[in-house]
Amino acid sequence: MAALKPLIAGNWKMFGRQADLSEIPVLAERVGEAAKSIDVLICPPAPMLAIAAWRAKDTPLLIGAQDCSAAALDSPRTGDVSAAMLADAGARYVIVGHSERRTIFGETDALVRAKAEAALTAGLTPIVCVGETQGERTAGRVEEVICRQVGESIPQTRGPLVIAYEPVWCIGGAATPTPSQITQVHSFIRETLAGRGGDTRILYGGSVNPGNAGEIFGAPGVDGALVGRASLKADDFSAIILAHPAAS
Ligand code: PGA
Repeated sequence: MAALKPLIAGNWKMFGRQADLSEIPVLAERVGEAAKSIDVLICPPAPMLAIAAWRAKDTPLLIGAQDCSAAALDSPRTGDVSAAMLADAGARYVIVGHSERRTIFGETDALVRAKAEAALTAGLTPIVCVGETQGERTAGRVEEVICRQVGESIPQTRGPLVIAYEPVWCIGGAATPTPSQITQVHSFIRETLAGRGGDTRILYGGSVNPGNAGEIFGAPGVDGALVGRASLKADDFSAIILAHPAAS
């Protein structure tokens, strides 16, 4: 299979203010040419999307959202934001099913799938997150959990798709799986996708930082990364992007 264009996405979570969007032109300047061979995406909180898109205009950087409504049509849903609205604000991608949404907000695979379908309807590429907890890994249930999440959370409609493998025990901490553990799960996801998904990029996420990014990008089957904390500052995020072999 031909190598897929890498995608390195920054998930700002519920951090940042409009003033922090000044990191965007700094990042564009730092990554320069590398952003032509790597898709670089920033997913700020929803209220900053339109301004982020404006700041990213005339740079190769892409803007995405962190979540969307499962309802594709405009409807009375107080507080919800539709994928079409995100697209209108300048988003090209949307993260769905992040483990924080699954855990804190009780999002099920079925809801995540509905959100991913709504994203496709709006012309956005969904980034569907999957990953096991520490307990599930210890109990030897990694493949069972990943198989269920992939099987039941990805959209049934064919369209552009990204999957982020984010082991829950690695998010927001210091631990990361070994490169061979990452490769093992990525190959398993690829197998689970079976006939579909030749062009589906599979990202690794969870405690990626400038110190470990090169090793993670070198693991076979890794098509990029979903980065949390280390994506907020252009210094760290650019160092991660420039650690990708496609950057040189
Ligand atoms: P982290 O978060 O890089 O801060 O561990 C990753 C994520 O939750 O997407």
